[in-house]
Amino acid sequence: MNSSTCSLTTPLCTQLGIRHPIFGFSHSVDVSIAITRAGGFAVLGVARDDPEHIARSIRQIRLAVGDRPFGVDLMFPRLAGDETDVEQVRKKIPAEHQAFVDHLTQKYKVPPATKPHFFTETVRSEALFSAQLSAVLESDANLVAAAVGVPAEVIEQVKRRDKVALALVGAVKHAKAAIDADVDILVAQGYDAGGHTGPVGTFTLVPQIIEAANGLPVIAAGGVGHGRQIAASLAMGAQGVWLGTAWLTTHELHLQDALVDSLITARSEDTVLTRSHSGKSCRILKSGWTEEWSSLEAPEPLPMPYQQALTGPLVAAVEEHGVKGLLYTPAGQSVAWFNQRESVDDVFNRLLDETQMALNCMRRNLGAS
Ligand SMILES: Cc1cc2nc3c(=O)[nH]c(=O)nc-3n(C[C@H](O)[C@H](O)[C@H](O)COP(=O)(O)O)c2cc1C
Repeated sequence: MNSSTCSLTTPLCTQLGIRHPIFGFSHSVDVSIAITRAGGFAVLGVARDDPEHIARSIRQIRLAVGDRPFGVDLMFPRLAGDETDVEQVRKKIPAEHQAFVDHLTQKYKVPPATKPHFFTETVRSEALFSAQLSAVLESDANLVAAAVGVPAEVIEQVKRRDKVALALVGAVKHAKAAIDADVDILVAQGYDAGGHTGPVGTFTLVPQIIEAANGLPVIAAGGVGHGRQIAASLAMGAQGVWLGTAWLTTHELHLQDALVDSLITARSEDTVLTRSHSGKSCRILKSGWTEEWSSLEAPEPLPMPYQQALTGPLVAAVEEHGVKGLLYTPAGQSVAWFNQRESVDDVFNRLLDETQMALNCMRRNLGAS
């Protein structure tokens, strides 16, 4: 069946007003627009943006997609300190850690960054989370996703603004907390996922979350890169899938060529969990960065928000100058499925076609022809 004629849909699609149960997480406005136009549900990651930037990005998407629904994703992690200023945080960084980062800067001959970067200008703090939330609440985004923490007072404010509240969860106890906080939708995000993820694999986690969800819609996330996995997620009772790595190699993201080349050739085993990115456990693509931080000379990464204050200037410079040896990105085990630069539409159409084929295969295997 051709994807243009296929009608893969679930009750959650009807509830949200979308065509296909494919949810796309991305930090990119252009990717979010393309996902929305393809009939999926885009969720723009804004946890790394200041409030003005957030408001602007949401306006851009709305202008491009009309009244089609889309969401934004914020993080509400527990922090190891309550500083709000980068200089205050830097004063707490141990000399040994600073010396290690200085050593990396020299070893890879990284010139200083010349442009502002979130990691060099901003500290993750309660004040930042609250300002980001205000920008989102005042916007016309239709859904708010809460990652790495689901404060009940946040969910209450989201729902008071008639927005859909969604939480990403990696364990049954997180799902119970999110349900108690009154979320509308759960994303069961397994160990396979790119980004901040827990220890339970997607295939194990999804049915447990569905059992715990008591009828709330559940979306499966983590490692999904093929239609067979979409069919399997639907078979497990999920009402959709949520993908992040899928969009990293798309034209619409405009990621550095060196990073796209690494993603295109990467296998599932070429991603690794590390605290060196943010201070919390996060799955990223293996690179010189992960090798250096797992070497015997490396100090233990600091907790959030100190790790990003420590590495921020180096990461900003590595990204700005495209320093190949140290460039990295969060990526999931699904990276194995994305082997070329393509458009968001190409990814979408392939996933839909594969899902139909997998469902047909399942019907045949069950003798239902
Ligand atoms: C580059 C990248 C950045 C991510 N950043 C966030 C984030 O800020 N907030 C969030 O809720 N999830 C984030 N995630 C996780 C995604 O929401 C999603 O759960 C995950 O990508 C699913 O697994 P997959 O990568 O195998 O598709 C990120 C994922 C990637 C690949």
